[in-house]
Amino acid sequence: MTDSSRYIAFEGIEGSGKSTVTRRVADALRANGEQVVTVREPGGTAVGEMLRDVILGGDADPAIETEAALFAAARAELVATVVRPALEDGSWVLSDRTAYSSLAYQAYGRGLDVDAVRTLNDIAIGGLWPGRVVLLRVDHSTGLDRQRVEDRIGAETAEFHARVAKGFDELAAADPDRFIVIDASAPLESVIEVAIDRVVP
Ligand code: TYD
Repeated sequence: MTDSSRYIAFEGIEGSGKSTVTRRVADALRANGEQVVTVREPGGTAVGEMLRDVILGGDADPAIETEAALFAAARAELVATVVRPALEDGSWVLSDRTAYSSLAYQAYGRGLDVDAVRTLNDIAIGGLWPGRVVLLRVDHSTGLDRQRVEDRIGAETAEFHARVAKGFDELAAADPDRFIVIDASAPLESVIEVAIDRVVP
């Protein structure tokens, strides 16, 4: 079985600073001589980038079940061809979003059954869930104010984003050993410092 202890998810609503924090934690690990692969979801593979355009592009308006299946398909490709081989090679894998985003957005946000979305993703990733999840927690109105690029899902209603934020909180509360919850309404440099402190051995 692949060891997932070096597979770290960075999660949160739009505007939580995930991408910057992911990059800075990767820099800190590399400075310690660790091998690090960073990925983002959806995307990170040729198939995944094509699906990303379909999912987020805005030309199509897929059914919520289709949306969940497309995210899971992009993720399946990424985990099979990038994440699992990297972990087996001894690398860290830092992922800007993972299956936990599908639980928060497609289940809590869109209203699909949480266990069904969990099972769909468990199949897609062959059971390889991230060992730790860094949840960058911001109030959803702060997050939406900070966000710069609007995609089809980012443009959803404030109520939708509030359900997503609550979903992340519930997932974290149910799984305290896996989740590292950080108050991301603090200044970005202090958020980065806490994340590095919690993740880098
Ligand atoms: P992205 O451009 O990666 O922006 P960010 O992560 O900075 O918000 O957009 C991804 C969008 O897709 C975002 O609105 C969250 C959404 N999403 C889901 O709904 N489900 C998922 O499984 C994933 C990975 C993302």
